Amino acid sequence: MDKKELINCGKVKSVYNSSDDDKVIIEFRDDITAGDGARKEVMTNKGAYNAIISTKIFKVLEENGIETQFVDLPEPNVMIAKKLEMIPIEVIVRNIATGSLVRKYPIADGTRLEPPVVEMDYKDDEYHDPMLNFSLIQALGIATQEEVDILIEKALKINEILRKFFADAGIVLVDFKIEFGKDKDGNIILGDEISPDGCRLWDSETLEMMDKELFRKGKDDEVMDAYIEVYNRIIPDEEKVI
Ligand code: TYD
Repeated sequence: MDKKELINCGKVKSVYNSSDDDKVIIEFRDDITAGDGARKEVMTNKGAYNAIISTKIFKVLEENGIETQFVDLPEPNVMIAKKLEMIPIEVIVRNIATGSLVRKYPIADGTRLEPPVVEMDYKDDEYHDPMLNFSLIQALGIATQEEVDILIEKALKINEILRKFFADAGIVLVDFKIEFGKDKDGNIILGDEISPDGCRLWDSETLEMMDKELFRKGKDDEVMDAYIEVYNRIIPDEEKVI
């Protein structure tokens, strides 16, 4: 499938139209950013590792009844995906309190959150992704109450599936961000990616970080080793293409 015109150039991924009107081609670049793109570096093969990790996770979710945007991974850093109209909401699910949650609310870092906390942010770097509630979602005309209910229900189900999946690999799923879109029939489908860029992953034994938080903290030289460790733990040898 050939790339046609570039339809969106994000901070780490480029999305192209394809010869099939219902599909897009997503190129995972080697860029890594933090602080709404204020800091940016390039890390060799990061795009491929994230694309392969995201592919694996989307396949696990599909096996567990969650429809995703994933269609194929023809090259290690190139994904073919269903074309979706993305909903500009970042849905964040938290199992352990850390990061912005403990900066903004009186909850101690490391507190286990049961039930998990679900948060929704408006995806807009210019406004620094402000937190949403349903009134604001309505005022902005982003989604209906019924659609928001679906996002929350799907996010919690995804959390249950992935918590177990990562636990089996000796990894704690602390929190993560997901995005959804609508297909041409209006179905709400999981899109974007699930990779160490948008999750907090801690080693179950040592609680060491295995995700982009290392980059946010300036430990740039540890980032790729952590991503590769996640890759090695969750991708079976026969599925390793890099
Ligand atoms: P959060 O604690 O809100 O982020 P920070 O401490 O960086 O302000 O993040 C919760 C999780 O969601 C974390 O795994 C990172 C992910 N996330 C993103 O991928 N993109 C985002 O824009 C935000 C706000 C969070």
